[in-house]
Amino acid sequence: MAAKPLHPATLAAQALGWIDEQTGAVVLPVHTATTFLRDPDNQYRRGRGYGRADNATYDQPEALITALEEGAASLLFASGMAAAAAVFHSLPAGSHIVAPRVMYWALRRWLAAQADDGRLAADFVDMTSLDALRAATVPGHTRLVWIETPANPLWSITDIAAAAEIAHAAGALVAVDSTAATPVLTRPLSLGADIVMHSATKYLNGHSDVIAGSLTTARKDEFWQRIVMARSGDGAILGSFEAYLLLRGMRTLYPRVERACRSAMKIAETLAANPRVLEVLYPGLPRFPGHTVAARQMQGGFGGMLSIRVKGGEAAAIATAARVEIWKRATSLGGVESLLEHRASIEGAGSPVPPDLLRLSVGIEDPDDLIADLETALG
Ligand SMILES: Cc1ncc(COP(=O)(O)O)c(C=O)c1O
Repeated sequence: MAAKPLHPATLAAQALGWIDEQTGAVVLPVHTATTFLRDPDNQYRRGRGYGRADNATYDQPEALITALEEGAASLLFASGMAAAAAVFHSLPAGSHIVAPRVMYWALRRWLAAQADDGRLAADFVDMTSLDALRAATVPGHTRLVWIETPANPLWSITDIAAAAEIAHAAGALVAVDSTAATPVLTRPLSLGADIVMHSATKYLNGHSDVIAGSLTTARKDEFWQRIVMARSGDGAILGSFEAYLLLRGMRTLYPRVERACRSAMKIAETLAANPRVLEVLYPGLPRFPGHTVAARQMQGGFGGMLSIRVKGGEAAAIATAARVEIWKRATSLGGVESLLEHRASIEGAGSPVPPDLLRLSVGIEDPDDLIADLETALG
């Protein structure tokens, strides 16, 4: 009888159960070597030559991400931005790509700059509309459709399976920024995506002490080989100690995300009834526009990210942010501590974010403490 496959929570908690063969240690060492011994006949039969391309400390975190994402291989990068840039750098120059109008702002800005410089041709569309995606995706011309779901900071939902069908029918690849969903809640490759990207800085690491990124591929094909070359060629590699910290963080990914989801739902429901709140944006709320799709493609929760729109406009939102004590006024997301941010101040001109919006990243504190702090700050 075949053994029942282990639940991904077990794989994560035990970091795939690897032990150090020589010592029996249940935590693998941090390899700091930048160079590796050649065989006497000048070969590298052990598979590693130089630290920019090969890092033994990456093996376990990359294998764990691959297992959690149900992919064929993964690569770590120095940041989420470096991971995303490697995908776009691996496309032929001038390629047409379709990306969401609402997405992580720094990547959208970077893509727009690439388009301005003629390195890419980019169309930014409403990715919640499959018709808008279909209209922008040109058969035989579009090379890649970039999806982020739930998308920062309005948490708009894209139907990955339907979008992948549209993209593939046009001959385009699909890459998904799944940072907010995490592999705990969504596995984009099993829904038809070709590549999944994480800002591992966020939930995968989970402790606001490492900047890192990852890509996972559905197939080790020619495009993936180009990405492997791009990481080594562009040199955007993660340090060994950061790779070790990332693995350490991923061991608690499941309990952290499960708790953040439960707390976020409670916070969303409570704030939706607060008279000082104009609107709560959270995919878990039944009246949220993307709720039905989210319920289908997110399993076990709707994530730890939500946004609120504060009655009274920008000034009221900033004043609310000024009054929180337990929530920390800081950018980023996905850490054990709850963060709150006035997003329009960060994104500046051209941002699709309403000026009265506060983005909340729910950590693992007691949810009632978080709610009490917010309700006091709202006044
Ligand atoms: C959804 C999303 N994608 C990508 C990034 C970029 O990742 P990094 O900051 O690790 O470069 C971020 C960072 O905030 C993000 O929130």
